[in-house]
Amino acid sequence: MKNWIIVGATSAIAEAVCRLWAVRGYRLFLVGRDQSRLDTLGKDYQVRGADAVHSFVMDVNDFDQHAPCWQAAEQQMGRVDGIFIAHGTLPDQSACEESVQQALTEINTNGLSIVSLCTLAANQLQQQGQGTIAVISSVAGDRGRQSNYVYGAAKGIVSIFLEGLRNRLYSKGVQVTTIKPGFVDTPMTADFDKGGPLWASADQVATGIVRAIDRGRNVAYLPWFWWCIMTIIKHIPEFIFKRLSL
Ligand SMILES: NC(=O)c1ccc[n+]([C@@H]2O[C@H](COP(=O)([O-])OP(=O)(O)OC[C@H]3O[C@@H](n4cnc5c(N)ncnc54)[C@H](OP(=O)(O)O)[C@@H]3O)[C@@H](O)[C@H]2O)c1
Repeated sequence: MKNWIIVGATSAIAEAVCRLWAVRGYRLFLVGRDQSRLDTLGKDYQVRGADAVHSFVMDVNDFDQHAPCWQAAEQQMGRVDGIFIAHGTLPDQSACEESVQQALTEINTNGLSIVSLCTLAANQLQQQGQGTIAVISSVAGDRGRQSNYVYGAAKGIVSIFLEGLRNRLYSKGVQVTTIKPGFVDTPMTADFDKGGPLWASADQVATGIVRAIDRGRNVAYLPWFWWCIMTIIKHIPEFIFKRLSL
């Protein structure tokens, strides 16, 4: 039996992960902003075989709700085996350049809310002596680029924070898995020209996420070839990188 909290449960990638976990008979605690959408998803997962599905309405930027959310999950499921964090927004980069407030809101949603949730989760799971923290970061967090550095900076916070958390929790029996997808065809990328070999479906990425968690992976680039692409990008010397239109 596995009892999972899923934050950002209405994300296309999270939905695809939950469909796989439902078939395994897991208990799911869905966290999102839209109760009716959570109800619809919950019914679908139960039909697919989930042992039980609960829900909690929360905007992740309402940090005061993070602890009550964890407590509600513990109450409903008895114990929490893992937390999977999948919420996110793709900011309008030029709006973030013009507005400090906009930039900070995006950093809050994509970075600091995850710091808060993972700090709570780490302390609870450490006490328990086992559990998993799995979070969707992004390849965008590996290097800042002019086209999306606010999003990239927030994802960079997430990746580095999880790296430290993994180091802290290794000896405490808690697994920390960082997921770094490339381009995924979801509502988040609705305005992009899609197609081509670099694009993956939410189902493909979800299969990779479930496998990475099952295998206790530290960092999973999804699909795998993004590891090669990002290794090259990370090694371009800064005096060249700053001249590129990326
Ligand atoms: N798609 C890609 O190419 C790609 C690539 C790399 C990483 N990622 C990451 O993958 C994760 C999942 O994204 P996706 O592609 O599945 O996108 P998606 O379908 O657009 O899902 C985004 C989710 O984030 C939730 N969300 C946004 N702001 C929130 C807030 N303040 N409070 C609570 N929930 C909030 C949305 O909730 P509502 O339904 O209420 O709006 C939605 O469920 C994100 O972390 C994203 O950054 C995506």
